[in-house]
Amino acid sequence: MSLYLEVKNLSVLYDRAIVLNGLSLHVNSGELVSLVGPNGAGKSTLLNAMSGLIKWQHDTLKGTVSGKITLNGSVKFDGAELINLPAHEIARKGIILCPERGRPFREMTVQENLEVGALFLDKKVADDNLEKVYALFPVLKKRSSQVAGTLSGGERTMLSIGRSLMSEPKILLIDEPSVGLAPLIKDSLFERIRDVQGMGVTILLTEQDVSFAFDLASRNYVISRGKIIAEGTSQELLANELIRETYLGL
Ligand SMILES: Nc1ncnc2c1ncn2[C@@H]1O[C@H](COP(=O)(O)OP(=O)(O)O)[C@@H](O)[C@H]1O
Ligand SMILES: [Mg+2]
Repeated sequence: MSLYLEVKNLSVLYDRAIVLNGLSLHVNSGELVSLVGPNGAGKSTLLNAMSGLIKWQHDTLKGTVSGKITLNGSVKFDGAELINLPAHEIARKGIILCPERGRPFREMTVQENLEVGALFLDKKVADDNLEKVYALFPVLKKRSSQVAGTLSGGERTMLSIGRSLMSEPKILLIDEPSVGLAPLIKDSLFERIRDVQGMGVTILLTEQDVSFAFDLASRNYVISRGKIIAEGTSQELLANELIRETYLGL
């Protein structure tokens, strides 16, 4: 299988604080890969950098909020360099971020939120995609005219994944899908993420819940302080006592 997405030597600094420290990883086409690590390890920063949001912060905020931002390294998708592209161009290439806790447009209805995902597509294609999303997440259909601010945590995550599917993604970057969810909702989300992979979408997801991630993914990376410190199948990583005890808390 060829490399689909390749991150090489990616570094992000806020002022002199190193948040990503020469991080490298790759995801093959069709794979579901997880990135596990504790709070503050740099997971969201990585996904934000890959989807152009760190560059946006860098160019737009120019240090007004977080101080000087430095972004270095390479993110290639199907051989093409993304690191200097604006976020909307990265999204148009099919690399779609599902942010932590979904972050829907709270005042808009569920259906309006979904339609945002397909703004650039033909109406007919958008309608077909909406049907597919409703088939995958019947709860979103049930709540289609409800404003998104009233959804539960699990429903928001599903809405975010649904919205990304509206735009026919090639790769989904899902940031901590299971965070804050009750066990039953987690189980159902787990199955839906499997279904999305079954639709041919490549997935890179981050998690603090190691079991959730390891049960889903065929390959995993462990991140600590902005660096990848281990890589392997779930079995391989669990068999390594040092990794298990020091980094996975198991
Ligand atoms: N805008 C920012 N300005 C300064 N520091 C930040 C900013 N965003 C994140 N950080 C710092 O970067 C580190 C990694 O954060 P983050 O990527 O959100 O970790 P994770 O998603 O793994 O919990 C944390 O120490 C956090 O405090
Ligand atoms: Mg995070």
